[in-house]
Amino acid sequence: MMHAHSWWQTGVIYQVYPRSFLDSNRDGIGDLPGIISKLDYLRWLGVDAIWLSPIYPSPMADFGYDISNYTAIHPLFGTLEDLDSLLHQAHQRNLKLILDFVPNHTSDEHPWFQESRSNRSNEKRDWYIWRDPAPDGGPPNNWTSRFGGSAWHFDEQSEQYYLHLFDVKQPDLNWRNLKVRQAMYDILRFWLDRGVDGFRIDVLWMLLKDEQFRDNPMNPDWKPGDPPSARQVGLYTGDLPDMHALAREMRAIVDRYGERVLIGELYLPLTSLIQYYGEQLDEAHLPFNFQLVTMPTWGASTIRQVVDAYEAALPRGAWPNWVLGNHDRPRIATRVGREQARTAQMLLLTLRGTPTCYYGDELGMQNVAIPPALMHDPPGKQDPQHSRDPQRTPMQWDTSPNAGFCPPEVQPWLPVASDYHTYNVAVEQQETHSFLTLVRALLTLRRSSPALSVGSQRSLDQPNPACFVYLRQHGRQRYVVALNFSAHEQVVSLPEQGQGRLLLSTHLDHEGPMALGEMHLRGNEGLLIWLFPFESQMI
Ligand code: NOJ
Repeated sequence: MMHAHSWWQTGVIYQVYPRSFLDSNRDGIGDLPGIISKLDYLRWLGVDAIWLSPIYPSPMADFGYDISNYTAIHPLFGTLEDLDSLLHQAHQRNLKLILDFVPNHTSDEHPWFQESRSNRSNEKRDWYIWRDPAPDGGPPNNWTSRFGGSAWHFDEQSEQYYLHLFDVKQPDLNWRNLKVRQAMYDILRFWLDRGVDGFRIDVLWMLLKDEQFRDNPMNPDWKPGDPPSARQVGLYTGDLPDMHALAREMRAIVDRYGERVLIGELYLPLTSLIQYYGEQLDEAHLPFNFQLVTMPTWGASTIRQVVDAYEAALPRGAWPNWVLGNHDRPRIATRVGREQARTAQMLLLTLRGTPTCYYGDELGMQNVAIPPALMHDPPGKQDPQHSRDPQRTPMQWDTSPNAGFCPPEVQPWLPVASDYHTYNVAVEQQETHSFLTLVRALLTLRRSSPALSVGSQRSLDQPNPACFVYLRQHGRQRYVVALNFSAHEQVVSLPEQGQGRLLLSTHLDHEGPMALGEMHLRGNEGLLIWLFPFESQMI
């Protein structure tokens, strides 16, 4: 049965934030040669695909999500030859490479925008979204930037406003213009021809905007302290019905190249999210499922509800996926604490569907408090509470100064966590109970077991509200996963009185025969149990 699945279904994706992975040229910023030198680590860890956040030329107003040339490499990160070499060396190790595609906006320093801005009759004027001022001279409507303030910027020279749903240096492209689409599709083909295995598409749901430019409604639930981006409901700036035709166009391009993957970044409610699989499963292969990242409370019953609702909502044939962290959200070990984060990893790596792991989460890395003077992130500079810098700090490789991310005499672009002496690859590789040892063991078990990598998923009823228990099954192979979301000991009783074998505890300190009728879980403990094939099929 395994052969029926693609690599992006059976595999595990690992997100590398290139600035922070490994600095090979002593400038305090990570780069492509740095990533190449760590491919063996990623193979050892047991992931299957690397997704790179943007590595293209960029003025870095939004750390690479403001692109000034889509078909080259920023000198900070290396050269096109380095990218080719990364691809080649990754493929040699059976690792796939996924690039970040940022179609909603370019940098204001992109030649297209420079032309567009130069005068109103320029051939590329309509490549971006220009509008006359409102009658009072103010912005054309109430749309806000997700980084705060109006989404409109007045251009003195051509006396019109341009739209930027993110930073003022990130003007939005006009995806209703066919030439824009063609130019962007050429970029996809450029990288596919070079051999990349797919794309993660930045803010896929936002590419089209209301043609009448109607005001967005305000969010009645917004309260001070919430992110500025949540103040409005993006009714007219996202998830417009004609978006699906665009997603289908992108998919058709990628499909011509065989087994490549399209992953859509989509922060949408479940019913809207799953539309991006496409009616004929002809849009994104994996509309990113961020429910474990966005849920307001982390607990057994909420997670069971989320898992069950997602499984029930998935269109026939659609492949699930799960995300625990990324460069935009606080790290899991900070959100739920390091002890519970071990159980969170067991959840991520035993649920049905492709997991995406964020670099450093395999070590239990936490957010690092960044003093305001050292902040880089544009929204963070406006509102330090919502800075994304704390989750983007250098990867912790060893106990040497700067955690082995860059040489001792070099200042890393963001400070290294102060606890890096304990939490780093070299130390954790040696420790039998470390976070890294746990994540690697989970990845090894997942890879070697059809039930865990492609099997069915079913939540199991049991009376303890602090625990979430589920079954993964493929043919006669069955596993039970029992997760304790509380810090206290819990007992889980399954109706089946049968026997299984404990393969892995998140505490990494015991294994062996296990009676399912009464399982004792210590605080924050997760258990992975293999059920003897000859035991009853009651559960
Ligand atoms: C989503 C990216 O993940 C984020 O980092 C970026 O700031 C915005 N899109 C704008 O490109």
